[in-house]
Amino acid sequence: MTVEALRGVNLTVNRGDFTAIMGTSGSGKTTLMNIIGCLDTPTSGTYILNGRDVSAMSDDELSVVRNETVGFVFQNFFLLHYATVIENVLLPTLYMDAPQDGPKNKVRDKAMEILRTVGLEDRAHFKPRQLSGGQQQRTAIARALINDPDLIICDEPTGQLDTRTAAEIMTILSTLNNKGTTIIIVTHDPNIAAYAGNTTHIKDGLIDGDFNRRL
Ligand SMILES: Nc1ncnc2c1ncn2[C@@H]1O[C@H](COP(=O)(O)OP(=O)(O)OP(=O)(O)O)[C@@H](O)[C@H]1O
Ligand SMILES: [Mg+2]
Repeated sequence: MTVEALRGVNLTVNRGDFTAIMGTSGSGKTTLMNIIGCLDTPTSGTYILNGRDVSAMSDDELSVVRNETVGFVFQNFFLLHYATVIENVLLPTLYMDAPQDGPKNKVRDKAMEILRTVGLEDRAHFKPRQLSGGQQQRTAIARALINDPDLIICDEPTGQLDTRTAAEIMTILSTLNNKGTTIIIVTHDPNIAAYAGNTTHIKDGLIDGDFNRRL
């Protein structure tokens, strides 16, 4: 059986936007985020990222664009459990062909600086299981920031967190957005979407303005 996860999505996100994507389970949110984050390519159609058509790129080209441009934050944190907090943050730098930031300890200094901005400098050498959920998600945000992404995409980043911790995570994301990082967040929760500057609704693989045209 062929599933049409997305059925003709027209979406423009401008540099510096904070966009929320809402929709019921199975509506296509993660599929859309995977395309936006260059983890997947569309079967048809065009995706322009930073002025470049990435929809027809090879997996290798795509992974370079992804590593240089996008930071990821997921509901389940996706941290390596045998690695420390700072090792998790440094993980995306291991995929670089050449060290972008000079000597190794310079990259470590940068990782520590980022951990400071998310309030985890005193947890750098802890393992993820020694952290609270909010601290694990802050580690994931720090990891997303290590390569200075233009865009951070977050798929249900607060889905596992209590209300207060979720608010802390959203405050960090808002601060990053105020400094110029483009943020796209998938959420079921209107209170979380309220942090974004605009919200796009997705239903059966179609978004807002396209519902009437296609259904
Ligand atoms: N790898 C896949 N192979 C086949 N169908 C898939 C695949 N991934 C997703 N789908 C289908 O595509 C549709 C959209 O899935 P998607 O994961 O994008 O939904 P979602 O909006 O993120 O849902 P949720 O809120 O539950 O995370 C669903 O019908 C799903 O079953
Ligand atoms: Mg999903």
